Amino acid sequence: MHILLIGSGGREHAMAWKLAQSDQSSAISVAPGSDAIESEQKVKCVDIASNDFAALANYAKKEAVSFTIVGPEVPLVDGIVDYFQSRGLRILGPSAAAAQLEGSKAFAKDFMQQHNIPTAHYATFTNTDKAIAYIKQHEAPLVIKADGLAAGKGVVVAQTEQIAIDAVTSMLSEQTFGDAGSNVVIEEFLPGEEASFIVLVDGEHSLPFASSQDHKARDEGDSGPNTGGMGAYSPAPVINESIHQQVMNKIVQPTIDAFRNNGTPFVGFLYVGLMIDDNSVAKVVEYNVRLGDPETQPLMMRLDSDFVTLCLATINGQLDQQEISWSKQSALGVVLAAGEYPAGSSRGEIISGILDADALGCKVFHAGSRKEGEQVVTNGGRVLCVTALGDDIRKAKALADKGCDKISWSGMHHRRDIGYRAVARLPTD
Ligand code: AMP
Ligand code: GLY
Repeated sequence: MHILLIGSGGREHAMAWKLAQSDQSSAISVAPGSDAIESEQKVKCVDIASNDFAALANYAKKEAVSFTIVGPEVPLVDGIVDYFQSRGLRILGPSAAAAQLEGSKAFAKDFMQQHNIPTAHYATFTNTDKAIAYIKQHEAPLVIKADGLAAGKGVVVAQTEQIAIDAVTSMLSEQTFGDAGSNVVIEEFLPGEEASFIVLVDGEHSLPFASSQDHKARDEGDSGPNTGGMGAYSPAPVINESIHQQVMNKIVQPTIDAFRNNGTPFVGFLYVGLMIDDNSVAKVVEYNVRLGDPETQPLMMRLDSDFVTLCLATINGQLDQQEISWSKQSALGVVLAAGEYPAGSSRGEIISGILDADALGCKVFHAGSRKEGEQVVTNGGRVLCVTALGDDIRKAKALADKGCDKISWSGMHHRRDIGYRAVARLPTD
C-alpha cells in the first residue's frame, strides 16, 4: 500500500524508515520531507507544504494513498484530520478538538483539573499586572508557559521571582511568542525526574509504547534554555511496572475516556510528559498529540512490531486486538544542533563524517540538513540525531557518542551526557 507521511524532521525520518520496513508498504510519500528522508528505501518526497491541506488531500486522492500519518503538531492543531476525513480520506491523528490538548496549555490544564488528572497547580493570565501580582504571592521557582504552540521554546522555568516577572512581561506585553503568548499559564514547579509516556489510541483502546526520556535543556547537566529536545533514549528505567500502571489508570485512561465522553474521541499518538517525584507519584507536565522528537528516533530503532499494522489497527478502532513488541536492547539518540540553537540555526555548513557514523552501526536521522551537490550541509537548528542500539543503555550511549565524534561541522553543538540518569541506575560492573 501507498502511505503518505506529513513532516520533514528527524521524527519523520525515523517514521518513514520504519514504515518502509513493513512488507505491507509499497511506497511512502513524504510531504515535504527532506533529501535525507528521500534517500530511504521506498520513499519519495513531494513538494507540498504541511499546511496546504487541499493540495495534500488532492495528492492522497490522485495517488490512491491507503492512509496518511501526520508527524508534527501544527497541522493537527489546525485541523488536518477533520479536513481529510471530510474528503473521505483515511488519516491517523487527532481531530482539531482533541489536538487542543497540545494546542493550548490553558485548555490542557483546565481539562486535567476538570477530570482530576494529576498535574501542577496553575493559573492563567492575559494581563501582565495580574500575572505579576500572582508571581509575587507565590514563591519561585515557578514555571511560565505561553499558551499556544511555540516549538518547545515557550516555557521558562523561573528560578527567581525576577525571571518569572521578565518572562510574563516578555510574553504578554512584548509578545515574544506572538499570539501563542497572549495567554500565559503560570504553574507550580514540580521537582522530580521526567519521562515520556506515549500511547497509541484508537478513540477507545490504547497500546502503550516503550517508555522513553528526552533531555529538553540545551546544555549538559540539564542546564541552559529549553529546546525541542537534545537527545532521548528508551527504555526509561524510572518508569517501573507500578508507575506504568499508575500512569495508565490515573492519567491515560481518564484522558481517553473524557474525550470519548465529550463526543470528540482521541485517535492518534497521545504523548504524556511526566514528572515523577521521590514518592513515585507521576504528574502531567504536558500533553502532546503526536510522537515526540527526538524520542521517536530511539523508539523506532527498538520497535519490533510492524508499524503499518499498528497504524491500520488504530484507524480501524481495533487496537484491542494488537500487541506491540520491542527489542530487548536499549536505544539512545544524541541531537547534533547548531551552536545558535534554540535561538538560531545553521545554514549551508558542510557536514562531514555521517558515513563514518553509519559504518560504526549508528543510524543517523536528519532533522535539518539538505544536499548541495555531493555534500550534505546544515539547514536548521536541530540538524542530526545520531541513534544507536546496545545491550544496555551504557552500550547504546557509547556507540552513539562514538558516532557523534565522527561527525562535525563549523559550530556544531551537542550534549555528551544524554542518558546519564539511566546510566546511573545501572548496576556498576
Ligand atoms: P512543556 O513544554 O510544558 O513540556 O515544558 C518544557 C519543559 O519545562 C518540561 O519538559 C520540563 O522540563 C519543564 N517544565 C514544565 N513544566 C514544569 C513544571 N511544572 N515543573 C518543573 N518543570 C517543568
Ligand atoms: N521531545 C519533546 C517533544 O517532542 O515535544
